[in-house]
Amino acid sequence: MRILRWILWGFGGLALLAAAVLAWIYAASEAHYRSFAAPPPFVHPIPEDAAAIAWGEHIARTRGCRGCHGEALEGEIMGGMVVTPNLPALARRVSPAALEAAIRHGVGHNGRALYSMPAYNFLHLTDADTAALIAYLRAAPVSTAAPAGALRPWHERWPAEVLMRLAIARGEDAAMPAWLHHVPPLREQANPDPRIAQGEYLAMTSCNECHGFNLRGFQPWAGESAPDLIVLAAYSEQDFTRLMREGAPISGAQLEMMGPVARGRFAHWSDEEVAALYAYLSRFAAEAVAQEP
Ligand code: HEC
Ligand code: HEC
Repeated sequence: MRILRWILWGFGGLALLAAAVLAWIYAASEAHYRSFAAPPPFVHPIPEDAAAIAWGEHIARTRGCRGCHGEALEGEIMGGMVVTPNLPALARRVSPAALEAAIRHGVGHNGRALYSMPAYNFLHLTDADTAALIAYLRAAPVSTAAPAGALRPWHERWPAEVLMRLAIARGEDAAMPAWLHHVPPLREQANPDPRIAQGEYLAMTSCNECHGFNLRGFQPWAGESAPDLIVLAAYSEQDFTRLMREGAPISGAQLEMMGPVARGRFAHWSDEEVAALYAYLSRFAAEAVAQEP
């Protein structure tokens, strides 16, 4: 009888301890998510003319918003875990400043930092391009389709959620705004060759999503990134144009990720944008080769 009572007390104590640990993980991770100051409010006027809205759509296509937010921007279930928001619906509900804070600074409209929204890739978008993008989101038709992708059952999802929050609570991982100071500044915006300036701007607001913050595979968190863009030293302008338009590399291989990304996003670059990207990236790759020991 006595032993049974001790065992019950033991189980009760363990359950309490587990609950306390989970409560700490939740509270500490939430405190982290809420520890980022909102950026200064975006005051750039949002255009309403058709040309600006069409330009905003071009930004959305070439920067890959659909890759995570769905073909109709209706929201998507990513990896069976995170649900991205329906952007046209959100854009009608919250202010342009709230959208800009999410896109360029990784802070959501409710003041809570975002985790996997790649603001590091959009940080250098100009005010005018950001305003056009917001104009497009506000004008784009609101799809009522349910988010694509399947949500995993809760018992498969919660361990991953707890592990992610534990890493955040312990300071081993962080929300998006914590990484943004690693994004290098643009260096070529005053270059006398306008193609170099434009090419740097385009590369640093698109390719760095996957090829590293510096296009050389550097990302501040653990895990593999796409290859160092030094590989472009071997590409002629014609090869590069084919990679952007068709997703086909010089090796003739099928690129599992880059192939669909190029056909979905980069096929929308104008010829002038492809030429600017090549002007900048070929010089960048040649300089990287010259610095190799
Ligand atoms: C790699 C995937 C990915 C890409 C690409 C992406 N997003 Fe997101 N976005 C997310 C995820 C995931 C969230 C949900 C919040 C989070 O990360 O916790 C989100 C949230 C948002 C939010 C909502 C913030 C809030 O207030 O709740 C906005 C606005 C947004 N994204 C805009 C964009 C725009 C515009 C683009 C393209 C320029 C884009 N996103 C590209 C993954 C992505
Ligand atoms: C969404 C992620 C993503 C984006 C954005 C992206 N890439 Fe890639 N890229 C990859 C991955 C991953 C690979 C490795 C091959 C694969 O798995 O598809 C790759 C491979 C490459 C290669 C190597 C091809 C070869 O010869 O094997 C080049 C060059 C390249 N990308 C250029 C670019 C350029 C230029 C941009 C920007 C305009 C860009 N990528 C944007 C993910 C991306």
